[in-house]
Amino acid sequence: MPLVTTTEMFKKAYDGGYAVGAFNVNNMEIVQGITEAAGELKSPVILQVSKGARAYANHTYLVKLVEAAVLENPEIPIALHLDHGDSFELCKSCIDGGFTSVMIDMSSKPFEENIAITKQVVEYAHAHGVVVEAELGTLEGVEDEVVVEAGQASYTRPEEVEEFVSRTGCDSLAIAIGTSHGAYKFRPEQCTRNEKGILVPPPLRFDVLEEVAKRLPGFPIVLHGSSSVPQEFVKMVNGYGGNMPDAVGIPEEQLRKAASMAVCKINIDSDIRLAMTGVIRKYFAEHPEAFDPRAYLKPARQAVKDMVAHKIVDVLGSDGRI
Ligand code: G3H
Ligand code: 13P
Ligand code: ZN
Repeated sequence: MPLVTTTEMFKKAYDGGYAVGAFNVNNMEIVQGITEAAGELKSPVILQVSKGARAYANHTYLVKLVEAAVLENPEIPIALHLDHGDSFELCKSCIDGGFTSVMIDMSSKPFEENIAITKQVVEYAHAHGVVVEAELGTLEGVEDEVVVEAGQASYTRPEEVEEFVSRTGCDSLAIAIGTSHGAYKFRPEQCTRNEKGILVPPPLRFDVLEEVAKRLPGFPIVLHGSSSVPQEFVKMVNGYGGNMPDAVGIPEEQLRKAASMAVCKINIDSDIRLAMTGVIRKYFAEHPEAFDPRAYLKPARQAVKDMVAHKIVDVLGSDGRI
């Protein structure tokens, strides 16, 4: 089937109590690893491209890689999504250039400005058959050039969501309930430690999610910053010359719970980066003579595939849902 929008995916996910994974793509191996896993598990999947990915790999290369994945996996629904669009012009360029979904992220702007720019994107997108994700509330961490400092993040205010969705006409809404971007989601002082000395982060604000869902029945909610930063990969990176002290993510069982609620899209990027980095570091340590990029990109691609398969089955619950 051709590239799809997320409309049908989200309706089925909402009704079925699972979520669709949105994985960031930056090169061929990442596109292949994600879509091979989704294809074998018969799972819908969203491939998302950030402004940084577009600057790195070039819009046309990324679109063509995704089109190749669509041809190779004709059975599964695949959406191509702009992650964290920061202007009308960027969204327009992706809509004109073959994307089926865009995010306009004006969450750091005042409420009225967020509404005005989101509405402008929605009007253009809908006229071209493309769907729009918007955001209310801010996450800590780094996304493209925007750094939200610890303490500057704010949870979504449920009392704002109905007005925001009805005035903008957006198709899905990203909310802030305690997730954050990157591999260092919480400072050690925000966490407790378990018996093994591993950091345990504060729980997500399910009360905020519940209140949002009550106010927007049937409306798809999105969670950004949803990597779990598996400690086995942090150990692998650190064990082979890396330095990622106290990297910590969102516990997978909390994401599974969110997926069973109104959350229909879960964004994961850092875990893919971590898996690739760990495996490549290990490969170089064990094969100091290696210099053929295929030799180390092959296990890296397999690590992406294994990570995505694990997310689909154990976190998202989207396997067999095509
Ligand atoms: O939310 C941000 C994503 O992880 C994309 O990151 O802007 O470094 O491509 P990037
Ligand atoms: P992570 O950094 O937790 O993987 O989040 C990715 C994301 O939200 C992309 O938009
Ligand atoms: Zn994000």
